[in-house]
Amino acid sequence: SMASADDLKKQVGYKAVDDYVRSGMVVGLGTGSTAAFAVERLGQKLAAGALRDIRCVPTSVRTEEQARSLNIPLTTLDEDAELDVAIDGADEVDSALNLVKGRGGALLREKMVEVCAKQFIVIVDESKLVPGLGVSGAMPVEVTPFCWQHTMRKIAALPALAGCRAEARRDAAGALYVTDNGNYIVDLYFEKPIADAYQAAQALRDTVGVVEHGLFLDMASVVIVAGAQGVYEKHR
Ligand code: A5P
Repeated sequence: SMASADDLKKQVGYKAVDDYVRSGMVVGLGTGSTAAFAVERLGQKLAAGALRDIRCVPTSVRTEEQARSLNIPLTTLDEDAELDVAIDGADEVDSALNLVKGRGGALLREKMVEVCAKQFIVIVDESKLVPGLGVSGAMPVEVTPFCWQHTMRKIAALPALAGCRAEARRDAAGALYVTDNGNYIVDLYFEKPIADAYQAAQALRDTVGVVEHGLFLDMASVVIVAGAQGVYEKHR
């Protein structure tokens, strides 16, 4: 029978916890519909006593709320600056295991947490695998609200992002989308894959007013992929 997208997300979410989380670890908890299954599994195993002495760092208010509802012990980067493992979904994964993240708006906290993990486990269904970054939808950039339109125009004019269209993210009512950090999101849309993701990342980092961007380069340790043929891993 054909597995639904939710079944695939659940398979990789559960597998990441079963294979990579051990008692005593500090664990980064991702954000989104796939990561939610990993959080669910962690809650189950803690409740059952199959895991103990775990502390978790959530990457969004949403994930923090889910973790609290499951009685998962929480900590922060202020108290625990080194994580054993972080588990999160992604919007795009290329063949070098570079990622686009942040279509759920959580990119800043995700990146802050995931760069601190000894192992960063990415969990996706195979619809997220792309031949080049920037082709399947938005590449999000978090910007400071102060003169955000000016920052958006600066971004759109960066040569390293040639050919992109920039659009402020809005909610269903048309109001500017506000991140957990009180910032806005500029979504970048490309007609072709981003030519050089490293140059693009550097150019965005160098733009004053940009808080963070959704290119997660050289960060993933393992990508667990669920597809029609089953579940497999890609290693760096
Ligand atoms: C959140 O901001 C994102 O980075 C998510 O991790 C990403 O959008 C994947 O979400 P899904 O698992 O819901 O596709």
